[in-house]
Amino acid sequence: MGLRVTRPGFIAGIRALKAQQGVANYDPNRDATRQEMRAYVCGQCHVEYYFKGANKVVTYPWANGLKVEEIEAYYDKEGFTDWTHAETGTKMLKAQHPEFEVWNQGIHARAGVACADCHMPYERVGALKVSDHWVRSPLLNINRACQPCHAVAEKELEARVLAIQDRHNAMLQRAAKATTDLMDGIVAARKAGASEDALQPAQALHRKAQWRLDFVAAENSMGFHAPQELARILGESIDFARQGQLAADRSARKR
Ligand code: HEC
Ligand code: HEC
Ligand code: HEC
Repeated sequence: MGLRVTRPGFIAGIRALKAQQGVANYDPNRDATRQEMRAYVCGQCHVEYYFKGANKVVTYPWANGLKVEEIEAYYDKEGFTDWTHAETGTKMLKAQHPEFEVWNQGIHARAGVACADCHMPYERVGALKVSDHWVRSPLLNINRACQPCHAVAEKELEARVLAIQDRHNAMLQRAAKATTDLMDGIVAARKAGASEDALQPAQALHRKAQWRLDFVAAENSMGFHAPQELARILGESIDFARQGQLAADRSARKR
């Protein structure tokens, strides 16, 4: 009945991540603590991944680390592109659902709180203590999901989550607007006669801005898993998008 991981993508991905941290030949089924396993089992699916090479091997891009720019550096080095944007011609990345990577950057992971602590909290069934297998939003179960650690009223805990999510969503919408403006800028510059060469700096910034926007939007906690990290990423996204807009403008004037 022990926890174990079976997905080859996760096993190879975590080994590459640990190798980069100086731990050779890491095997989660042998080397992880039980508490680590309570997040690793979820990290088999709730992650960023891509299909590598002609055989389309499911690969977790973790060889440089789990942060958004570390994953981006991995893809850039591999020369990987998920799709080409039809309007701007930019070679894009597409983020999947990086809950594991984002949770890793947050205060709860730092404090050793695993996915299962919140999403599969313990309950008593007669004399037994079991974990809840109704894997769902912890907000539907604040009492058992949060209150074992936070001696705070349910309403107050919920309000703290909602405050994080509302602020997060406002920033997310602002970043989406900035990236949309950048796309419009590239389209307008091309129309005004900018050459494909001249458009390259703006396209490079489009790839960076939208990768960050998408990474955050595709993560499913609406900011909760790591609020400051996600705000940092959105801040970078907005900056890259506006820099890209300026670059597009310049390319139109240069032609
Ligand atoms: C084998 C792949 C897989 C594993 C392992 C897995 N999940 Fe999921 N999970 C999914 C998929 C796919 C969905 C989306 C299901 C849907 O939309 O119908 C999902 C949905 C969810 C949801 C949203 C449920 C809802 O109410 O909409 C939560 C929360 C969740 N998973 C948490 C976890 C946690 C925590 C773990 C580890 C204990 C875990 N998952 C392990 C694949 C997985
Ligand atoms: C400290 C508690 C906590 C931990 C630890 C945690 N989560 Fe969450 N998670 C939440 C909260 C709160 C939400 C937001 C739920 C909502 O908006 O209804 C959430 C949302 C989610 C969702 C979307 C759920 C939905 O209903 O759409 C998924 C999927 C998810 N988490 C997976 C994970 C995975 C995988 C891990 C570990 C890598 C993890 N979570 C760690 C508290 C936690
Ligand atoms: C297993 C214990 C544990 C569980 C379960 C848990 N937390 Fe926490 N939470 C912590 C710890 C530890 C910290 C860090 C506080 C510290 O070190 O002072 C923290 C911090 C927080 C913070 C502050 C975040 C920040 O960025 O400073 C919020 C908000 C929070 N938790 C909400 C929740 C909610 C909501 C749930 C349930 C969905 C939950 N926690 C479940 C232990 C837990």
